Amino acid sequence: MAKISQQTIDLVKRTADIVDVVSEVVKLQPSGKNLTGLCPFHSEKTPSFFVHKDSGLFNCYGCHEKGDAIHFVQKYKNISYPEAIAELAHRYHIEIETEGGDEYHIKSDLKRPYELNEAANAFYQVNLTNMERGKVALDYIRGRGLDVHTIQYFELGYAPQERSVLFQELKSTYEPVEMMELGLINKGGKDYYDLFRHRLIFPIRNEQGKLVAFSGRILEKNENEAKYVNTPQTKLFVKSQVLYNLDKALPFIRRQKRVVLFEGYLDVIAAFQAGVKEGVCSMGTALTEEQARLIKKHTDQAVLCYDGDSAGFEAMVTGIRVLENAGLVVGVVLLPEGLDPDEFVRKKSKAAFASYLENHVIDPVEFEYEVTKRKFDLTKPSQVEEFKAQLFKSLERRGSQTLLEFYIKKLTQDLSVDESVIRSDMHHHQITQAILASNKRKKEQIANIAILSKRIRAENRLLLYFVKKREFRIPIIDALTPMFVKENLNVSILVEAEAILAKDNSLEDITELVVKAFTKESERTMVRQRLEEGIGDFSDVDLAQLIHSVNISKLEDEVLALQKDRELAPTQEEFMNISKQIQALLIRIQELKKENPWKKPKS
Ligand code: GTP
Ligand code: MN
Repeated sequence: MAKISQQTIDLVKRTADIVDVVSEVVKLQPSGKNLTGLCPFHSEKTPSFFVHKDSGLFNCYGCHEKGDAIHFVQKYKNISYPEAIAELAHRYHIEIETEGGDEYHIKSDLKRPYELNEAANAFYQVNLTNMERGKVALDYIRGRGLDVHTIQYFELGYAPQERSVLFQELKSTYEPVEMMELGLINKGGKDYYDLFRHRLIFPIRNEQGKLVAFSGRILEKNENEAKYVNTPQTKLFVKSQVLYNLDKALPFIRRQKRVVLFEGYLDVIAAFQAGVKEGVCSMGTALTEEQARLIKKHTDQAVLCYDGDSAGFEAMVTGIRVLENAGLVVGVVLLPEGLDPDEFVRKKSKAAFASYLENHVIDPVEFEYEVTKRKFDLTKPSQVEEFKAQLFKSLERRGSQTLLEFYIKKLTQDLSVDESVIRSDMHHHQITQAILASNKRKKEQIANIAILSKRIRAENRLLLYFVKKREFRIPIIDALTPMFVKENLNVSILVEAEAILAKDNSLEDITELVVKAFTKESERTMVRQRLEEGIGDFSDVDLAQLIHSVNISKLEDEVLALQKDRELAPTQEEFMNISKQIQALLIRIQELKKENPWKKPKS
């Protein structure tokens, strides 16, 4: 088969801009000469992912993923090198030249699997609409108010009851192993049986409209079976990376400048029938960061419209956080009477639903207010106090004076009291919180100060070795990743130093280059000071000691983190589990402390 020519590959490499490519999926912020953001390849709360504009490389100090724009696309989209080249070529309007003959088919290795899914889809659809045995499913779905047009638009299907009809249908064209790989069939003993049986089928397409999976709903209530069964993870389908109906919703998302997120397939479909066509949903799991980024590519505005029950509220609380983290402006619709969107449409009307969705979008703070309010019985004084305390706390977290004023008014109305009463309550709350916080901080400071100052001194000195002495760099780099550098300035210095050395690793003392890498004069002064503090003699022994002590510090950090996790452990088992890990680490720390780094440097 034809290969992409080297000229095309070189051209793509020269053209693809790392910042451009990465910022499509990661929110980047300037940091010194570079850019930084939350790593898309592992989960983190503080950024350890850096993009170096000059060298065209990215680098994560948390998970150690690094490379150029092509590698980024390859890794992020989970595709092959030629596929990533082709994708970028397309993006930058570079024509793909090939070597060795005929036209180049990028996705040729996935062509057959997609065709197989389409074949299965066609089979399910025919069974729903054209076969006697699909009548029960068709009646069911018609009974839920779906018209023929909608059934076709969403390509709904029916998987028959018999054990292996799909397998029988497809086996002359496809191998069993191909069907198994896509999760369409399973092997039981010697024979094969279909995964979906006697279920209503929802085909799931990815953003590009490629058929990646199916979901099957039971038709009769049955406590012993899952209501929905999804295709398991396959090479075409990773549940956390797909949003149901995104492909069809895209033009509507663009037109409406927003996406609406629902909880279930049938909610998306009912909303569609009611004229709300920019709806999508995740596959029965909480919204993921990847899904939020997928949305952010197409719009800045997301409206959450989950079920109006307490589970729906809980899911919206998480959803708001995930969407806001991805940089989306979030709105929330609270449906009345515990209804879900599909029920709302059927109980009221299509028009009522569309208009409710237009007129009842509230912001996340108001949502929090409403949800909090519903948790309390405001006829009981003690509950009123609780309600106020929770609300004050959440307002405090948001830290906005405007919001504060708004909710003081709201609270005044809801509790029918005088505004001055609420203000004085709020004031009282603030003072109490301030005292509590200050006490807590003092305690923590006393506990941490000893550990911290020792390790920061060790780190500062290690950094001196790194910047000034070429021969010591290799043993240091493992010990000194910014993950473990506790101090912001040290992180920035290390990042700049690495960028400089990436260009020329033969340099000896790079102090001046590092200083110059910072743009602000005030930064330069600080960096210069830091790199000239306490320069003494450099020696192997000194270095070994420093690395030794930083290594111990890392383990101590892990212990602290685990202790925090343990406080939140949901079960006794989990608690014990974490305790064991802590114990093991403490033993390891004791051992390390006994070791003599003069004799046996540890790297
Ligand atoms: P419908 O009658 O289908 O509208 O059910 P519902 O309104 O009771 O929906 P529910 O809130 O139970 O489910 C919403 C979404 O959660 C569904 O669209 C599925 O994606 C998912 N879901 C529900 N039950 C299951 C299940 O048993 N297994 C899996 N994997 N997903 C489920
Ligand atoms: Mn429903």
